[in-house]
Amino acid sequence: MPKIALPVTRYYGSKRKLIERIWREIEAQRLEFDSVLDVFGGTGIFSYFAKVKGKSVIYNDIFAFNYNIGKKLIQQTTNELTIEEALGLLNRRPGIEYRDTIAANFEGIYFTQEENEQIDIFIQNANMLENENQKASAYYILFQSCIIKRPYNLFHRNNLNMRVNYNGGGFGNKTTWEHTFETLFTRFIAELDKFTFDNGRENIAVNFSALNCPSRADLLYVDPPYFSTSRSHTTYHAKYHFLEGLANYTEIENHINFEKLNREISINKSSEFENPRAFLLQLEQLINTHQNSIIVVSYRNNGIPSIQDISELIQQCRPNNRVVTLDLGMYGYALNKSNSTNNEYLIIATNDPN
Ligand SMILES: C[S@@+](CC[C@H](N)C(=O)[O-])C[C@H]1O[C@@H](n2cnc3c(N)ncnc32)[C@H](O)[C@@H]1O
Repeated sequence: MPKIALPVTRYYGSKRKLIERIWREIEAQRLEFDSVLDVFGGTGIFSYFAKVKGKSVIYNDIFAFNYNIGKKLIQQTTNELTIEEALGLLNRRPGIEYRDTIAANFEGIYFTQEENEQIDIFIQNANMLENENQKASAYYILFQSCIIKRPYNLFHRNNLNMRVNYNGGGFGNKTTWEHTFETLFTRFIAELDKFTFDNGRENIAVNFSALNCPSRADLLYVDPPYFSTSRSHTTYHAKYHFLEGLANYTEIENHINFEKLNREISINKSSEFENPRAFLLQLEQLINTHQNSIIVVSYRNNGIPSIQDISELIQQCRPNNRVVTLDLGMYGYALNKSNSTNNEYLIIATNDPN
């Protein structure tokens, strides 16, 4: 089978490198399913792959910025925003009074002041677009560009200095960080033209916390936040709060935490699935509310809880079904020494009897 082309994303925990393997393992179980719910959707890679495979797909994520990515890649079937229109959104329109929320509150934190001003104008122009397809494209190219221009592709530190003072050697990708928004928009509009498509099915994106998501499907894919035993935990909100702010632009000023050096924006901050002590209980609740679905969970070893704890829980929730636990190796790469210590796993609760 030829490799399926997938959008390139720089998102923490993306399953892009593993998705072919994950899908192969699901197919190997010979399960019958026509619809999938990707309840911790992130970049939408699992949803996108399922869409390519002709399934009816529901993408969900707790964050509005991710929901927009799901809307663009999964729900919508085309890109209607041209590169000329996208670049035009960087210009002030006569007669409009623009806010300067980012420039006024985030100087020296994530982006240069010139870039902050561009973000302010672009997002307000995008919000004025009446065509929902164009608006989702505009958000998509802005979010992807903002991620790519950040050291570590994250927003949990106010480390603009690392980018501007970088002088070669060792760590860093200065060239990528310094690409202008104009250059990056051109790249991402081309990606949208290439990757948006219609699989002839009804596919939707929704925006709930996992435990509040009312959608149901034949197969539930669960790829939750991961707690490593060796590192302190940084929540997805802490990693990407700035993008969640941009997705709720007019709300930003009411939610900036000025006590934090990185001026965290508190919109949609939640502890659901972000606290290792509550995790197993919440997972149990999630699995029990999807009684009629095949369950597929992605997790890693050396985490809290352990793979064994998760497997046991799933077996308890589905005492009459076959549950399989698969070691996928390290990110799908060839076996190596460290492989035994840090691997990706897949736990599948099938709908066949034991
Ligand atoms: C490990 S990532 C999923 C990555 C995704 N499978 C991919 O390939 O890009 C976990 C995702 O869960 C989302 N998330 C965190 N807490 C959530 C919650 N309580 N409900 C729904 N989504 C949540 C995060 O925004 C993040 O995108």
